[in-house]
Amino acid sequence: MTQRRKKLIEVALPLKEINAQSAREKSIRHGHPSTLHLWWARRPLAACRAVLFAQLVDDPSSDPAYRRPDGTVDEERAGIKRAELFNLIEELVKWENSNNPRVINAARAEIARCAASRKLELGELKKKTIIYGRDEGKEHPDGPLPNDGRFTAWQVNCRLAPATAVNHFLQTYAPPVLDPFAGGGSIPLEAQRLGLRAHASDLNPVPVLINKALIEIPPKFAGLPPVNPEWQKKSREEKTLQSSWQGARGLAGDVRWYGRWMRDEAEKRIGHLYPKVKITQKMVGDLSACGDAQAGGRPDLKPWLGQELTVIAWLWARTVASPDPSVGGKHVPLVRSFWLSKKKGKEAYVQPVVDREKGTYEFKVRVGKPKDGFDPDKGTKPSGHGSNFECILSGSPIDGNYIKSMGKSEGLQSRLMAVVCEGVRGRIYLNPIEEMELTARKANPLWKPEFDLIGKSADQLPLYGMKQYWQLFTPRQLTALTTFSDLVAEARKKVLKDAKKADIHPNDDRPLNEGGNGPQAYADAVATYLGFLVSQVANHQSSLCGWNSPNAQMRSTFARQALPMVWDFAESNVFCDSSGSFNNMFERLLKAFETLGNRPIGKTFQQDVTNIAAYNNEIISTDPPYYDNIGYADLSDFFYVWLRRSLREVYPDFLSTMLTPKAEELIASPYRHGGDRKKAAEFFEAGLGKAIHRWREHSHPDYPATIFYAFKQAETTSSGTASTGWETFLAGVIDAGFTITATWPMRTEKQGRSVAIGTNALASSVVLACVPRAEDAPLATRREFITALKQELAEALRLLQSGNIAPVDLAQAAIGPGMAIFSRYAKVVESDGSPMTVRTALTLINQVLDEVLAEQEGEFDSDTRWAVAWFEQFGMDEGPYGVAETLSKAKNTSVQGLVEAGVVASQGGKVKLLGREELPDDWDPATDARLTEWEAVQHLIRALDRQGETGAADLLRKLGSDYGERARDLAYRLYAICERKGWSGEALAYNSLVIAWPEISKLAHQTPAGTGEQRTLFE
Ligand SMILES: C[S@@+](CC[C@H](N)C(=O)[O-])C[C@H]1O[C@@H](n2cnc3c(N)ncnc32)[C@H](O)[C@@H]1O
Repeated sequence: MTQRRKKLIEVALPLKEINAQSAREKSIRHGHPSTLHLWWARRPLAACRAVLFAQLVDDPSSDPAYRRPDGTVDEERAGIKRAELFNLIEELVKWENSNNPRVINAARAEIARCAASRKLELGELKKKTIIYGRDEGKEHPDGPLPNDGRFTAWQVNCRLAPATAVNHFLQTYAPPVLDPFAGGGSIPLEAQRLGLRAHASDLNPVPVLINKALIEIPPKFAGLPPVNPEWQKKSREEKTLQSSWQGARGLAGDVRWYGRWMRDEAEKRIGHLYPKVKITQKMVGDLSACGDAQAGGRPDLKPWLGQELTVIAWLWARTVASPDPSVGGKHVPLVRSFWLSKKKGKEAYVQPVVDREKGTYEFKVRVGKPKDGFDPDKGTKPSGHGSNFECILSGSPIDGNYIKSMGKSEGLQSRLMAVVCEGVRGRIYLNPIEEMELTARKANPLWKPEFDLIGKSADQLPLYGMKQYWQLFTPRQLTALTTFSDLVAEARKKVLKDAKKADIHPNDDRPLNEGGNGPQAYADAVATYLGFLVSQVANHQSSLCGWNSPNAQMRSTFARQALPMVWDFAESNVFCDSSGSFNNMFERLLKAFETLGNRPIGKTFQQDVTNIAAYNNEIISTDPPYYDNIGYADLSDFFYVWLRRSLREVYPDFLSTMLTPKAEELIASPYRHGGDRKKAAEFFEAGLGKAIHRWREHSHPDYPATIFYAFKQAETTSSGTASTGWETFLAGVIDAGFTITATWPMRTEKQGRSVAIGTNALASSVVLACVPRAEDAPLATRREFITALKQELAEALRLLQSGNIAPVDLAQAAIGPGMAIFSRYAKVVESDGSPMTVRTALTLINQVLDEVLAEQEGEFDSDTRWAVAWFEQFGMDEGPYGVAETLSKAKNTSVQGLVEAGVVASQGGKVKLLGREELPDDWDPATDARLTEWEAVQHLIRALDRQGETGAADLLRKLGSDYGERARDLAYRLYAICERKGWSGEALAYNSLVIAWPEISKLAHQTPAGTGEQRTLFE
């Protein structure tokens, strides 16, 4: 068999743009598939898209199209092609291009070209094999070129095939992509977008449903018009006017229609539980008497007098019987904060008015800034955090343990604190209203999820007696959720009736779960999204939803990846239009999937990764859990209990269990192992190892597998990642028989400026590429390993630098090529015969990396070499003249010469590198008689700081590209020194220069404005 081709991901990646777009994606809320249903630790689509693309296309150095006739790589053309692929990735990762046919088709054509070229090389397809059109699979009688609607493998290889043929080729001839830890579906969705068959599996039924809703259902019904009666009633003319049901727009139209029906129907059934508030004179108060809002009057309510306002939310305080015997067992509030709105100019808060003699208290809403020393931030807490409170009636402390024991024995109660209503431009806050409190208590749900909280979900709430899911909801919330959940089944029946009248595969009566395409399957599909709506409502309708006073908005249940106790909670009005309401969630949900629908139809399975029955020679790209970082199954039960109730009939197979499967879940959760952390970690590592082993055996041999490795900040150090978790993971991948060929740091979190462009900004994850190690891989000695590192790392580093990798990412990325060497051997043997550990290998890789960077110094002028050595020892501080002089001999220069070169200042027996602020403003490389790379770097950084990229470009133009490139190499070297020394401010400067380099260089190549001529060394 011919040698495997290296894929782009094994050589270079435009990390900066991938990271920037991934971080940006986090703030895109409209139309992002993540708004379909919550799932934890989702990967940004941009990162998945880029990783998959680079995993699927050949690196030009491995691509026969970039070889000379003698078989050697044509480096120049390969470099140009790599730059072209980089440009394509940079376009591809932009959110705006997610559905841009020009960009997506270009990416697909490139993937198909590589796949076709490889198949031709292996003889799996012949040049003349028709891959699209009449006689597919046969040989074209007239050769590849005639354009008769038939296209051959050769045409795909030469990029002469149209998009339809390319798509068909990818769907039929390219291997499928499997993500066996599919979660929220980012990887399968992107594989599908790139034209491939996407296979998604997960142990947990919730992500199985999410993946169905992303990659299976939209393509199945893509392009179809809706079936709802309103649409069917339209005349033929009206229907033709609505020209396009592209993607899943028709399906989304139906989800909108039946969803609205559900909402309206629910309002008919339970709307009485959500009354409006009429503003009375009593509420406004006697303004003439005091005119002072704080004293009782509410001038802000006057314009609303007599009007009925819609409630947005009811704010409740949990209460407990006071432990103080003098209070006589009365319930007192447990409030963390009394703030309602901290918005500037719209401040509002609750102030308790206490009558200690009578032993009563009332909540009063105040508008405006707090007065008379009242601090709403204090709530009813003595100070600090934790679960200790103070009795509002006596001032005596309420110990957290007491609250817990009362919670368990009697249960905590709640009392209405304030009512938030819809105003014209903002919220209106009202005192609690007794009738409203009574109405809320009248709710009588017909069903409740009587299932225990388990593990991660149960780490706090059961301490307060909240042991089962139903206890996380108020009776009114349970009533709403049960009603909506019932309505999913009713809506499904209605859809079925309507779909039978429409023209959707009328003879196919199979349900969706059995592969149907007809009316029943369509009704199941609509019901799936309506079921998600119930989940969304649950996320915004539990007594764990807090009130976000800075924004005056609801918080969702899962504002964090946990189910923490919430003392003062907000119960939103599901029928209003504000945050937390049905309508509010509805539109977001529709936008999440209406543009989806790429073919081919994806496949989703519920499978335990360690036990996947049949692999199909897929390409693996995946993102495993990370130890006990997130308790997916435990937390997802919150949604599952409602999804199961709503959709069990649609998916009887994987919604059969009462709760989500736990035992097989690959997380290191000590509670599942009798509290034993070690055993939990071993379970996780062994299970993951088993899964990786199977990928080694079953994944497609032509493509590397890619694995996202997420790690916690806690296990990182400033010199990269150094943790037992990371080393264990690398060792596990190698033990499974893989050679690791790339390790790309992904920094996908939104970060502050200094971190984003600066130093010590450790990646939130690393993407590994790995390929099966040859069965007959040789052994190597430690010496052989080090020699290979020294020989090969320099070239790998050159490629990384020419890809303009940020210095901050260099050490992490260089682990890839280093590990590629380590793990291509069956074993590296130490002198005592023991196998070398991954930890030792990582240390050696770092050492050699440093040496290679230091060797690059040989290319710098002697003054610069002196400056680097000095910088390493003294930084920008002063040092003794004698040391400077001795060093200058070693570097073949002199202190006097360095002073003349403008590198240092020497005075009173001390020598010091000139700081950037001390450099002459009128410096001109053309007239500098002793030009050094050191000065070039420092001046470039200063120009970048002061005048931005244009200023730096002006300077680079004067320096010329050769000098410029060397200056950039120097920036890498100086960054590495700063990183090691912990000089973060200085490191930031060098990192910024490299990051800005492509733009500076581009601007430098343009003719400077106003000159009309090129007066530069670039000519
Ligand atoms: C890190 S998440 C995947 C996130 C996903 N890449 C995304 O972008 O949303 C890991 C997933 O592994 C799943 N999982 C845990 N144990 C599993 C097992 N034994 N078999 C299959 N899936 C498992 C979890 O349910 C979770 O969805």
